[in-house]
Amino acid sequence: MSDRRLRVSAKRMLTSSICEIELRDPDGLALPPHPPGAHVSLDTPAGQRRSYSITNPAAEADRYVIAVHRQPGGRGGSVSVVDDTEIGSLLTVSAATSAFELVEAPRYLLVAGGVGITPIRSMLHHILGQGRSRVRLVYLTRTREETAYAEELDRPGLVDVVVLHHSAVAGRADLWQWLAEPDDETHVYCCGSTALMDDVRALTMHWRPSHIHFEDFAGVDALGGTSAPFTLTWEPTGGQIAVASDETALEALRRNGVRTSSSCESGTCGTCRLRLVAGETEHRDLVLTPPERESFVMPCVSRAAGAAITVAPL
Ligand code: FES
Repeated sequence: MSDRRLRVSAKRMLTSSICEIELRDPDGLALPPHPPGAHVSLDTPAGQRRSYSITNPAAEADRYVIAVHRQPGGRGGSVSVVDDTEIGSLLTVSAATSAFELVEAPRYLLVAGGVGITPIRSMLHHILGQGRSRVRLVYLTRTREETAYAEELDRPGLVDVVVLHHSAVAGRADLWQWLAEPDDETHVYCCGSTALMDDVRALTMHWRPSHIHFEDFAGVDALGGTSAPFTLTWEPTGGQIAVASDETALEALRRNGVRTSSSCESGTCGTCRLRLVAGETEHRDLVLTPPERESFVMPCVSRAAGAAITVAPL
């Protein structure tokens, strides 16, 4: 995935904590395509690598628009992107990539919570372009003031498509009304807080798993739970690397001079994917499908399930 320098060409607060940033090529060149649900990774001015979903329609080839939730209690990436950029700032940005792909389906149910509207909005625009009867969006926020794109989505023309629910006014949303009846023709796409995604997971246990899709940039804690040391063999050189209990496989590879790409470093973006050559793996990522887990591993979060694994570049 090649990086390029993009210019911040517009910037505005959508709510008191969600900032929309438009990125364009400084020379006006078209950007690599961004299918609905795609994201980019960028280097924040403070130097962290972070991933953000693209929210503008895929047909807009000359810009990526992202919405960043400024989280003062987070790891600092979002605060730097919002506070340390201005119109004209140049940022190093990856090409768009998608781990939250919109599959072809007769119908869609989109469920967004808070800033989770970002990739869902690009999906909504795409589907609406193909026929409005095919999609329903359930968009959950705490209040109207905390609702990004409220005016765009809460308008008469979309009254049969969009359900806006504000929990501070109406209490907890009852998602069962939309999920009770599994429907082979509908795919469900959900992006939001861990609690929302856990709810949707629990309420769709009776659906075909292949019809339920999640996006989670909150990521996973790479060293959470029990993390035992193990040996990682790097197949191209045969080098054996000891991975300590308090480091990730990715960190251990780098410590030993193996250069491998990464972005989110929380198991959500798919950038660090390596080929799994041998050994049993404790997969902790949110990217790989069960069949993919036979052949690939995400070293930013995943570890050996036993004493050793062998990995190789793709
Ligand atoms: S760096 Fe994003 S999944 Fe590993």
